[in-house]
Amino acid sequence: MSILRNNCAYLLLLAIWLLCRSATTMRTWTYTLMDITYESSDDSKLKLDLHIDRLGRGEYGLSGKVILGVDLTNETEIEILVYRSADGSSEYKLQPLQIDRQSIFQAINNYYKKMVMASVAECSDLPQFNDTLEHVGPATFNITKCQLSTEQFPAFMPEGYYKLHFNGYGPFEFSSVTLLRIEKALY
Ligand SMILES: *[C@@H]1O[C@H](CO)[C@@H](O)[C@H](O)[C@H]1NC(C)=O
Ligand SMILES: *[C@@H]1O[C@H](CO)[C@@H](O)[C@H](O)[C@H]1NC(C)=O
Ligand SMILES: *[C@@H]1O[C@H](CO)[C@@H](O)[C@H](O)[C@H]1NC(C)=O
Repeated sequence: MSILRNNCAYLLLLAIWLLCRSATTMRTWTYTLMDITYESSDDSKLKLDLHIDRLGRGEYGLSGKVILGVDLTNETEIEILVYRSADGSSEYKLQPLQIDRQSIFQAINNYYKKMVMASVAECSDLPQFNDTLEHVGPATFNITKCQLSTEQFPAFMPEGYYKLHFNGYGPFEFSSVTLLRIEKALY
């Protein structure tokens, strides 16, 4: 009898712990992809062909191709700068959320692996790896309606319109601007 009671208490504690745990990892915000623009200095080295697909009511995903014509080397460096405007029409101001300029393999093995790789496993053939990725060769990567899980992102983000400037430097240069809107999550 007391064993049964103890088990019930244990299950109750477990249930509370699971609820609290999911509450703390829950984001207080959601995002809507609105637009993407991009350019590349040399389409034979890197060609981007991306667009935003509407998936359902208020839901959007990224689709298209990233066509890499060469082997990536550490001479390619990237940075991501984040600008925000409260209402989308006032000035976009630089936010302290940037990913500093660094070699592409450093970014892939850190930010891509931690923040992006799991989200794109099912919707793309972008690299999946466990340890470190050391070679990305000429390849066409196919992306179909990818949505990024925000689990690895800050728990709180102020509402507003954001422009993510993704810049690449080195043997070939590229830049891309993604416009998205962040709103409070409604639960
Ligand atoms: C890039 O640099 C890292 C760190 O210095 C090194 O471990 C890696 O082998 C380099 N990768 C390539 C493809 O040159
Ligand atoms: C990573 O490791 C796990 C567990 O060992 C394995 O199941 C999975 O296939 C590996 N993933 C890749 C991309 O190698
Ligand atoms: C992308 O799709 C093309 C055409 O179906 C295919 O040849 C290519 O291997 C795919 N890319 C990857 C990285 O699997």
